[in-house]
Amino acid sequence: MSSTIIELNNVAKTYSTAAGEFAALKEVNLKVDSGEFLGVVGKSGAGKSTLLNMINGVDQLTSGEVIVRTNNDSVSVHEMDENARAHWRGRTMGVVYQSFQLLPMLTLIENITLPIDLADNFRPRESKERAMQLLRLVELEEHAYKLPAFISGGQQQRVAIARALANDPPILVADEPTGSLDSVTADHIFEVFEHLVTDQGKTIVMVTHDTGLISRFSRSLTISDGELVSDMDSNTPRFDKTMMRSEAASNQTSSGSCPSSRFCARIHDRTTRPHQTIYQRGGCLYGAQRY
Ligand SMILES: Nc1ncnc2c1ncn2[C@@H]1O[C@H](COP(=O)(O)OP(=O)(O)O)[C@@H](O)[C@H]1O
Ligand SMILES: [Mg+2]
Repeated sequence: MSSTIIELNNVAKTYSTAAGEFAALKEVNLKVDSGEFLGVVGKSGAGKSTLLNMINGVDQLTSGEVIVRTNNDSVSVHEMDENARAHWRGRTMGVVYQSFQLLPMLTLIENITLPIDLADNFRPRESKERAMQLLRLVELEEHAYKLPAFISGGQQQRVAIARALANDPPILVADEPTGSLDSVTADHIFEVFEHLVTDQGKTIVMVTHDTGLISRFSRSLTISDGELVSDMDSNTPRFDKTMMRSEAASNQTSSGSCPSSRFCARIHDRTTRPHQTIYQRGGCLYGAQRY
């Protein structure tokens, strides 16, 4: 039976800028079940990275709470002090970034042993064995002693995934991990994630601007202007605020699209093909395009 592993209650994040306060996340409520491969999809600036940084505690929230439950351990992420949070993150949540963030002066295997040695008592032989196992998992064992500069971008991202798994965390969060990769390489990264969910029982939260990836997740959310606007479970809507707005304004629904309108959500049928795209402008339904 699946259980809630990540829970966000009324999470808000406001940045102070020269132009004033900016609400990047607005009262987000979300439950992620253990074993989900959750995709959060939204345009640039929608609040995707901010959301991930609230979940992994890299950044402070303005209000609300994030609860993470793993191995009978339930923590309120933002109530821990920075030190405790860093230790907790090291054993609970692996993080993967678009730009890989490998240390250029360390070999691939050293990039992976480093977080093990930082988290654990220093046991060089064991951490090296573990790192080699992880390199095998991402099919890069033969490159173990190379520097990152001497392997491709897709290979570097696989090393970054191996590094994120170094301390065997139950959760992985990934910020546009395929964003700088070509589609074939991106597909390989997706296969690694799918394997981690299906065969290793990991929970993955990945954010992306690429709406074409929606059908690959076990569940996908759409984020727009700091709000979750739709939630699709294997292509079946759990909720869809844009559709609710659409019903309220049913007579305004029109076929066709407007180039200046803002993409909101794709409504899928039982196949993976979207059959309707919803647009909104100024928070209201603007139009729908059917296929
Ligand atoms: N440190 C910051 N200070 C001020 N504004 C920020 C900061 N970080 C992000 N923002 C703003 O918050 C919004 C959401 O940003 P972000 O979460 O990075 O979006 P995404 O990852 O979806 O592209 C954007 O409008 C961005 O400009
Ligand atoms: Mg981002």
